[in-house]
Amino acid sequence: MGQPSHAPKDHEDHDWWRSAVIYQVYVRSFADSDGDGTGDLAGVRARLPYLAELGVDALWFSPWYPSPMKDGGYDVADYRAIDPAFGTLAEAEKLIAEARELGIRTIVDIVPNHVSDQHPWFQAASTAGPGSPERELFHFRPGRGPGGDLPPNDWPSQFAGSTEPVWTRLPDGEWYLHLFTPEQPDLNWAHPAVRQEHEDILRFWFERGVAGVRIDSAALLAKDPDLPDLATRPRPHPFVDRDELHDVYRSWRAVADHYDGVFVGEVWLPDTERFARYLRPDELHTAFNFSFLSCPWDAARLRTSIDTTLAEHAPVGAPATWVLCNHDVTRTVTRYGREDTGFDFAAKAFGVPTDLALGTRRARAAALLTLALPGAVYVYQGEELGLPEAGIPADRIQDPMYFRSGGTDPGRDGCRVPLPWAAGAPHAGFGAGEEPWLPQPAGWESYAVDRQQDDADSVLALYRRAIALRPRFGDGPLTWLPAPEGVLAFTRAEGVTCVVNLAAAPAELPARSRLLIASGPLDDEGRLPQDTAAWLTD
Ligand code: GLC
Repeated sequence: MGQPSHAPKDHEDHDWWRSAVIYQVYVRSFADSDGDGTGDLAGVRARLPYLAELGVDALWFSPWYPSPMKDGGYDVADYRAIDPAFGTLAEAEKLIAEARELGIRTIVDIVPNHVSDQHPWFQAASTAGPGSPERELFHFRPGRGPGGDLPPNDWPSQFAGSTEPVWTRLPDGEWYLHLFTPEQPDLNWAHPAVRQEHEDILRFWFERGVAGVRIDSAALLAKDPDLPDLATRPRPHPFVDRDELHDVYRSWRAVADHYDGVFVGEVWLPDTERFARYLRPDELHTAFNFSFLSCPWDAARLRTSIDTTLAEHAPVGAPATWVLCNHDVTRTVTRYGREDTGFDFAAKAFGVPTDLALGTRRARAAALLTLALPGAVYVYQGEELGLPEAGIPADRIQDPMYFRSGGTDPGRDGCRVPLPWAAGAPHAGFGAGEEPWLPQPAGWESYAVDRQQDDADSVLALYRRAIALRPRFGDGPLTWLPAPEGVLAFTRAEGVTCVVNLAAAPAELPARSRLLIASGPLDDEGRLPQDTAAWLTD
């Protein structure tokens, strides 16, 4: 795998997160060391040199806790342990320390909106019965209609395309709220014990050396205690972006500050002013930029998205984040090869045609675009290999989004398929034993790390070179340069320029500049072809 090309980074760099490259690890699909078909922590530890060579500053681990896996680990049964399929807490501690030795920090994923129905709190609440203090930790209500047979309100499921109710009835007649699956009961964030418990969980992980926490569904925790019907158009919204949340995150911030820890919130909010409130100096450090993730491959719209992002972050002094994909959305090369290049949960469908060569060319250019922008960049495992969205045979689909949509939404498994490491090895080197938990499609080995690592033209080589060059950009401002329609051109600190050509006509590169890196070959006249990006220096 080669030696890490990066010396360990400055351990005392408090602002590391403002311009970091953060790599998302979905452990279940990263590397399977014991041959049971499921990725594990030992698999990640063995690949730390690969991640160091890639040059990333931090790893964000999707939930690695004990879980019945009804929602890919976002149904947590115990927030202070590791799922036995992945390893042990001792191993996680080793992994955190070993990564740190290589200059790589760790971010854990905390799921505060809901727990697994197997979590001891919910187990106790189920048996304790109506009116018990155990039930006050959740949202239990009697039903409506004759015999209480109807759900207590009309809220829709938070899984796009889902037609299922967000209430489930227990045999004793009471209903409980779950914005996601029935196996993910929502916690009652108005209860002091819920707040106390989560602050303790944060301390638990910071004590183990993690540098940050990703907050799942961060804008959904607080609920209007009256749980009013949405049909009554209640204002404020009864469960999205309620003001009470800011008080929660202010106390979380106090915990994080004690450890010099940082937060990244999963905040899907169209209102930029409301979004920025989460990033005030005494709240979350950063939040995912989903408007950029959803933006189509269109120069004007990308520029607007970048400008809007920078403008919304500026007043609160928070750095932006740049995300092209994650474990919930269509892989970038597939999305960019489609006619509609934006991302929209509601529009996901089976069998949408894609041109992977085109999508890959654009994804390479998008990699250089995002890595040149001011702020933190997220790379989702396999993005650096140019993996496409995989088709999953119906009988192997695992994602509840598929089932809860009645089989109309393809779900999210297609972006969660186990990584290919070695072209000639069983299961493309993911693991030497059992069939992986999700099937790898035909041709997956052509994306394998060992195929790409010595190929200067591979997507992996592009990511490695770009990440190594990126520190030149610093954390400072961005200045747009005049450019023809369809071309994005901007300079960053120290005279570094990024040009991305989305137009059909080749674009001239600035005179007297030296090419640092390009996402594809220039034409015979040294111009930048369509769907290609370049970095230049004076
Ligand atoms: C977040 C996660 C997603 C999960 C949901 C419920 O959106 O990213 O994977 O299904 O929360 O926890």
